[in-house]
Order: sequence, then C-alpha cells, then structure tokens
Amino acid sequence: MKILLFGKGGQVGWELQRSLAGLGEVVALDHDSTDLCGDFTRPEGLAQTVRLVQPQLIVNAAAHTAVDKAESEPELARLINATAPGVLAREAQSLGAWMVHFSTDYVFDGSGTRPWLEADSCAPLSVYGQTKLEGEQAVASACSRHLIWRTSWVYAARGGNFAKTMLRLAQERELLTVIDDQVGAPTGAELLADLTALAWPEALRRPELAGLYHLSAAGETSWHGYAEHVLMQARLIKPELPFKVREVRAVASSVFQTAARRPLNSRLDTTRLQTAFGLRLPPWQQGVDRMLQEIL
Ligand SMILES: NC(=O)c1ccc[n+]([C@@H]2O[C@H](COP(=O)([O-])OP(=O)(O)OC[C@H]3O[C@@H](n4cnc5c(N)ncnc54)[C@H](OP(=O)(O)O)[C@@H]3O)[C@@H](O)[C@H]2O)c1
Repeated sequence: MKILLFGKGGQVGWELQRSLAGLGEVVALDHDSTDLCGDFTRPEGLAQTVRLVQPQLIVNAAAHTAVDKAESEPELARLINATAPGVLAREAQSLGAWMVHFSTDYVFDGSGTRPWLEADSCAPLSVYGQTKLEGEQAVASACSRHLIWRTSWVYAARGGNFAKTMLRLAQERELLTVIDDQVGAPTGAELLADLTALAWPEALRRPELAGLYHLSAAGETSWHGYAEHVLMQARLIKPELPFKVREVRAVASSVFQTAARRPLNSRLDTTRLQTAFGLRLPPWQQGVDRMLQEIL
C-alpha cells in the first residue's frame, strides 16, 4: 500500500505519520517539501505529485487553520481549504484511490444545544468555516471513495495548545478569564490519527462506508470547564508547579473581540461513526490527561 499524506507537520499530520506507518509506505509532505509538491497554493503541483506517487490512499491534514486571519485573506483560505482538496479528490478518483479529509464543527452556526448530526444544515459563521464546508463538498463530489471526518477543538502535545496557554497564564496571573458559552469536546490529534488508521482498512473492505462522519472525543465541556480541568490535573501531576492563579472566571464570548465569530454549540453527535465502524470514542478527559502527563 502507498499512502500520500499532506500537512505532515501539523497537529494531526504529525500523528498520522505515526499511525499510518503500519499500513504501508507513507509519503509525507508539507508546503515546503522539495522533491514533490505539497503546497496547497499550487494545486497543479499537487496533481502532479499524486500522478507521480500513485497512492492507494490520500490523507489531507493540511489546512488554513488561522481562523481570525482567514477573515482578511478569504481567497487564500479558499485555495487551501477548498480548491486544493478538490483537486486532490479528482486525482484520487482517477486513480481509484481513497481520500481521507478533515473538516470542522465550524461549518455549523452553533445554534441550539443538541449535538449536530451529519445531516443537519450547515451555516458557517466565518470564512474558515465557509471554506472548510466548500472543501468537504469538493471532496465528496469529486471522489466517491472518501472519508470526511468533521472534528472539533483539536489539540496535541506537540506545539502550542490551549492547555499549555492556561498552564503558562496560571503561573503569571492571579485571575484568568475564560469563555464558558462555547461548548464542545477537546479532541486529541492522536485519537484522530489512530481512528483514521483503524477506519480506513475497514472502508477498504466495505466501500459502502464511504461518507461524512462526525469524529470527536466523547462528552462535552466549555473552554472554562476545560481550563479548570487542566489546572486541577496539573496540580495532581505536578504539585510543585508555581501557580499564582486564584480565580478562573467564566465569561461570555462577547468579552473577547475576535475577527471571526465562533459557534457556541460545537457538540458533534458521533453515533454514525461509532455504529458504522464499531468503534468507541473515549471521554475527552482521557486524552487531555494523557497529554498533560506528557508535557508536564
Ligand atoms: N485545530 C483545530 O482545533 C481543528 C478543529 C476542527 C477541525 N480541524 C481540522 O483538522 C485538520 C488538521 O488540523 P490541525 O489542528 O492539525 O491544524 P494545524 O496544526 O494548523 O496544521 C495544518 C497544517 O497545514 C499546513 N499548511 C498551511 N498552509 C499550507 C499550504 N499552503 N500548503 C500545504 N500545507 C499548508 C500547515 O503548515 P504550517 O504550519 O507550516 O503553515 C500545517 O502543517 C484541518 O483540516 C483542520 O481544519 C482542526
């Protein structure tokens, strides 16, 4: 098996390099790869790469993920999040290959409190959400053998993340103010990568599994709940951490002015994925606690 992975240096791409290694030869690229083009601003170069590598599976973990920045550069966001994935999907289709693509809860408007189903109407609030939705549609329409994972609140031990920011601020300040009206499930890049490696072989055996699935850790929390959990666990793991923080104050999203609007309700209903693939999604705390053990 030959697997072509794009976005190898990102949170999810990094973990996919590990999890896909047992399935075949992984050709992993990012935007400054030199031998082969992995730059999503050059769709014709990506098509050339696919033709040269001739993979059985293309996995796209590359994206324009700077949600606020995307508001001021919509054409670049569209090229990376929609046009380029569409080109990869067309190339996959002409090879008879599969394509795994990642999308986001930001395709929804965040209304209500019910977890979103795959069939619910999308109404993105931001350029990022809109271009990710266009990317999903481009992949699904061009490549029949696709798996699209819509996920939420992704973190990884490698690089910066929300938990690391909270741990730093808690050592610098007595008061932290954290949003409590956005609700979702923190989902580890490790989990996304592991489930991709479990699900794709099953889809190869049963091509009727091709489609769009919600994939996030189980349970739900707000950013405020997430912050409190991180600080509580950190105190257990490393009691000697010099925390200054006395209060973690819950505030509304409106307190922070950002270029892009975020959905309030990011809950994803993952029943479809769990039923189709016979997989179980662990509680979000499990992955977060493991990440904290690693970084502390
Ligand atoms: N992060 C989240 O909270 C979240 C939530 C829901 C869904 N998702 C989706 O999950 C997937 C993986 O996200 P992630 O968290 O792993 O994001 P990430 O860490 O930001 O990784 C994205 C990768 O894309 C690369 N990239 C950016 N511009 C590129 C270009 N022009 N050509 C090629 N590669 C380019 C980045 O490279 P550089 O870093 O070098 O620019 C980075 O390696 C994405 O589809 C994202 O939309 C993420």
